Amino acid sequence: MAGPQSTKRVVSGMRPTGALHLGNFHGALKNWVELQYQYECYFFIADWHALTTGYEDPSKIAGHSIEMAIDWLAAGVNPGVATLFVQSRVPEHAELHLLLSMITPLGWLERVPTYKDQQEQLKDQDLATYGFLGYPLLQSADILIYRPAFVPVGEDQVAHVEITREVARRFNHLYGRELDFELKAEKAARSLGSRNAALYRDHRRRYQEAGDREALEKARSLVQNNARITVADRERLLGYLEGTGVTILPEPDVLLTATPKVPGLDGRKMSKSYNNTIGLREDPDVVTKRLKAMQTDPARKRRSDPGDPEKCPVWGLHKIYSDEPTRNWVQQGCRTAGIGCLDCKKPLIDSVVAEISAMRKRAQEYQDNPELVRGIINEGCEKAREVTRQTLHEVREAMGLSYR
Ligand code: TRP
Ligand code: SF4
Repeated sequence: MAGPQSTKRVVSGMRPTGALHLGNFHGALKNWVELQYQYECYFFIADWHALTTGYEDPSKIAGHSIEMAIDWLAAGVNPGVATLFVQSRVPEHAELHLLLSMITPLGWLERVPTYKDQQEQLKDQDLATYGFLGYPLLQSADILIYRPAFVPVGEDQVAHVEITREVARRFNHLYGRELDFELKAEKAARSLGSRNAALYRDHRRRYQEAGDREALEKARSLVQNNARITVADRERLLGYLEGTGVTILPEPDVLLTATPKVPGLDGRKMSKSYNNTIGLREDPDVVTKRLKAMQTDPARKRRSDPGDPEKCPVWGLHKIYSDEPTRNWVQQGCRTAGIGCLDCKKPLIDSVVAEISAMRKRAQEYQDNPELVRGIINEGCEKAREVTRQTLHEVREAMGLSYR
C-alpha cells in the first residue's frame, strides 16, 4: 500500500547471463551487499532485457535466472533486508514502459551510445528491433517505478540513468500539474501532524512572500524527515513549497560503483565472452589448477628472470585480494626474482579459495532446496508489486487514465 517511506530506495538489475564470476562479484554484487544495509533495496533479474538481444533462443533464460539468484544469495545478498525479484513477474514495469514510450522522442533513444555500439558488436544478430531500441526506456521504467534516490551501476550504465532522468523530467513537466493540486497539497500538509503542518505553512509563506531560503530549507527537511507520509504526498509538499507542480517521478542519481579491474585467467578483463573467468561457486580444486596455470609476466621465462608485476595479471588479483605486506612481498620478490611465480600465487590461491568456499557453502542450502529460492523470489515479486502498483496508480491518474 501507500507505505510511508523513511529510508531512501535503491534499485538495480542484472541481465540473467547464468553463473556469475569473480568479476561480477567485485564489480557489482559486493556493493549491493553493502547497500542493502543502508537503503531499502530492490534488486531484480532483468529477463526482459535479456530478450532484447537474445530473443532467438529464450531456452536458457529460466535456468540462468535461477542460477543468478543463487549467486546473489551466495554472495550475501540478504532476502531478509533486500527485495529480490524477477522483472517479467512485475508487469507494471511493462505498463510504465509503454506509457513512457508515448513521450520519448526517438532521437533520445537513437543517441544512447550503447545502441550503435552493441549493434556493431553483435553483428551476427539482427538488432534492428523495436525492443532493442527501447532497451534504455525499459530500464528507465524499471527504475522510475520505484522512485529511488539512487541507482548503483558501473560506468557502462551511466548513459542509461541519464536518459532515465531526462524521461522523468519530461514526464513531470507534462503531467505534474494536478487539477486539484492545491487541495491535495493542503491535505498532505495536514497529514504531517498539526504541529508540523503549522510549521510547514509558516515556512512556506516566509519563502513565498519574502524569498527566505532558510525557511525553504527548513520546510524541505521537515517534509523529507517525516516518515509518516507517502512518497506522493512528500513530492506534493516539496512541489507546493516552490509553487510548481508535483514531481510524480523523481529523478534518481547514479551511485557509481567503483569497479576494480578484475583480470581474467588470460590477462584480459575477466568476461564471460572471453572464457577466462573464475566462477563464484567454482570447485576449489579447479580454481587452484586454473590459477596455477594463469598467465604471468612473459619476461619471466625462467625462475631466475626478474619480472614486473605491472605487466602481470596475477598482480591485478593481488591488488584485490592481498594485504599490504603480501603486496610488498610480491613487488620485491618479483622484481628481484626472489620468488617464483608459483610462490607468488600461493597466498592468492588461498584467498580466492577461501572466498569461493564461503560462497559455495552459502549456496549449498539453496541448491539442495530450489523451493527456497522460488519462495524468496515469489515474496520479492509481491513486495515489489506493492510499490509498483502505487506508482502506476499515480501515473495513470496524471495521464488521465483513471476514468471508469
Ligand atoms: N542494463 C543493465 C545491465 O546490463 C541491467 C538493468 C536493467 C538495470 N534494468 C536496470 C540496471 C535498472 C539498473 C537499473 O547491467
Ligand atoms: Fe606475476 Fe607474481 Fe610471477 Fe611476478 S612473481 S610475474 S607478479 S606471478
